[in-house]
Amino acid sequence: MGDLQIETKKSLLTMNTMALASTAEYFCSVSTVDEVQKALSFARKHNLAVTPLGAGSNVVLASNLSGLVVHLGLKGWESVVSQGVSTEYVDVTFAAGENWHDMVLMCLDRGWYGLENLSLIPGNMGAAAIQNIGAYGVELSSRLVSLQVVDIHSGTCSELDREACQFSYRDSVFKQSLKDKCIITHLTLRLSTEPNINIDYPALNAYFVALDKDPTPQLVSNAVCKIRREKLPDPNELANVGSFFKNPVIARSALAHVQAVDGNVEVPFYPQTDGSVKVPAAWLIDQCQFRGVRRGNVGVHDKQALVLVNYSNEGDNDSAREVLALAKEIQVAVKVRFGIVLEVEPRIYGSF
Ligand code: EPU
Repeated sequence: MGDLQIETKKSLLTMNTMALASTAEYFCSVSTVDEVQKALSFARKHNLAVTPLGAGSNVVLASNLSGLVVHLGLKGWESVVSQGVSTEYVDVTFAAGENWHDMVLMCLDRGWYGLENLSLIPGNMGAAAIQNIGAYGVELSSRLVSLQVVDIHSGTCSELDREACQFSYRDSVFKQSLKDKCIITHLTLRLSTEPNINIDYPALNAYFVALDKDPTPQLVSNAVCKIRREKLPDPNELANVGSFFKNPVIARSALAHVQAVDGNVEVPFYPQTDGSVKVPAAWLIDQCQFRGVRRGNVGVHDKQALVLVNYSNEGDNDSAREVLALAKEIQVAVKVRFGIVLEVEPRIYGSF
């Protein structure tokens, strides 16, 4: 198998931010496209299912994962500066295994703007496109030019442009028709060399009103980091995978029902371009009194009801089941009270 080292019965406890005890039947770490292809041909030869793993910050892992877990450690980036119609831009190609936030800071340092609202999002570059990461008014899709993938079945490399990725809110072709079909090895983002400030998100706007300073990309990044740290638990201190549910998008007419359920309480919502509305799942969960509850090892974060946390980082065997049971309990309560189905956001691997 060349240089590629395949391990068996590998513990993934420290490789997933929910700190779940999980053992991979087969495991390898890859740092080049060639190694990705070698890993895939090993899986083909031995008829193994392939589970790609990045930073493990958006996955719930069962205690045993059969098949081959491919840990994506491809590093590096390169940039090309070009002159657009009115302004200069820079296309930066990142390897999938680079840490997202480190790359945001690297770009800011060089005067390449556009990612500052996405500061401090956990995870690696490769995974960012799968769920089209978005925060504080910006989605990855607005910056993505193309990405490179390896087909899991054939091992062939190809490039997808933004349109082919079919991005929408927390969604892409990689969660739909290309689910489990390819591994992202690189992605190219187009950044501006001129600041392009977006502080429309209410919490961000409030921060700058209080600060009484003109926003710069660096200040926006600082603000986003501060706001995130105030309500989202650091996975290094309290195990979590960020938002556990997507914010539901419902028909505007269905909003009246939610409003009727909660009487005088004003229901927060964000109008979408197609006339539907997005309702914060955190608010729905909060109204069902789940914020801060604890069930065994797991619970709902006390500052953000959308985040489920695992209080045990020692790999308690029950945590994964407990977290899914709590998620189910929340889904049922929200459905009964508001008639809204909450969709789980992280990827669940293995059987429960
Ligand atoms: N809210 C509550 N209770 C809570 C928390 C929030 O009622 O416990 C209300 C807030 O008052 C606010 C609304 O819910 O009106 C929205 O809250 P927030 O601004 O915190 O954002 P969110 O909709 O809960 C989304 C993303 C986050 C992202 C933030 C900021 C999803 C699933 N989550 O959360 O993404 O950081 O917006 O843009 O879209 C992640 O994916 O891991 C993540 C943290």
